[in-house]
Amino acid sequence: MTPESVLNVVFLPSTVSPESLTEDTVIVVDVLRATTTIISALANGASKVLPQPSIEAAREVYASMNGDALLGGERQGQIVDGFTNGNSPVEYTSDVVADKTVILATTNGTVAMEHCRQAKQILIGAMVNIQAVAEAVLHESKVTVMCSGTDRIITSEDILFAGAMIDRICSLRKSAGIDPGKVTDTAMIAVNHWKQTKAEVENGKPLADFFRTARGGINLVRIGLDHDIVFAAQIDSLPHVPKLCQESWSIKL
Ligand code: MLT
Repeated sequence: MTPESVLNVVFLPSTVSPESLTEDTVIVVDVLRATTTIISALANGASKVLPQPSIEAAREVYASMNGDALLGGERQGQIVDGFTNGNSPVEYTSDVVADKTVILATTNGTVAMEHCRQAKQILIGAMVNIQAVAEAVLHESKVTVMCSGTDRIITSEDILFAGAMIDRICSLRKSAGIDPGKVTDTAMIAVNHWKQTKAEVENGKPLADFFRTARGGINLVRIGLDHDIVFAAQIDSLPHVPKLCQESWSIKL
């Protein structure tokens, strides 16, 4: 790595300006659930996902495609009136999504992506694809994990992912004889949060239990979507690295 190599974590999009990201490879995360759902849909054969900043924008894109797409998303975690799908990673199965375009509008995740439009490149991460993304950014000099938060407030499950990701990148770089680079204060805080949690997971407490008591998880438990938490807690279950192409504003593998 060059001396200016940096591993950074942003706890909420609103804490950085979009212009500050122009040299960064940004990994956008919304563990519960937008980015987990996007990875699941693409892993199950969706041709692309078009992330949208609002319900209205999603409806407009859907109309412009004459309905030849899935219209997915949520408000307060629930499917939106008139949409074909919600925001559950388990509902985007191959029989539903194969070869389809998914238009997706969520409260935080797809909004966080908008904030990163000026980044050098944008990857989509979640617990399910940590290893694949960590390998993909091995030689990138500036890496930022952008946590989406829940209702514009910091949420633990995204910070846990960020810590796990920074920890994994450091390990991979060390094994490859590469200097991990500067780890910022926020990245260090995330790594410490992750390491403390990981120790309890290794002692038998399921990662899903940590999600259930985090801001995003509490909402999902309340509305009966615990199965989404279980899905999102499966570390490294999917080997894919979705990339958000800034020109076409579409996410593909
Ligand atoms: C979001 O983008 O706010 C989340 O994905 C919300 C949800 O879990 O549906």
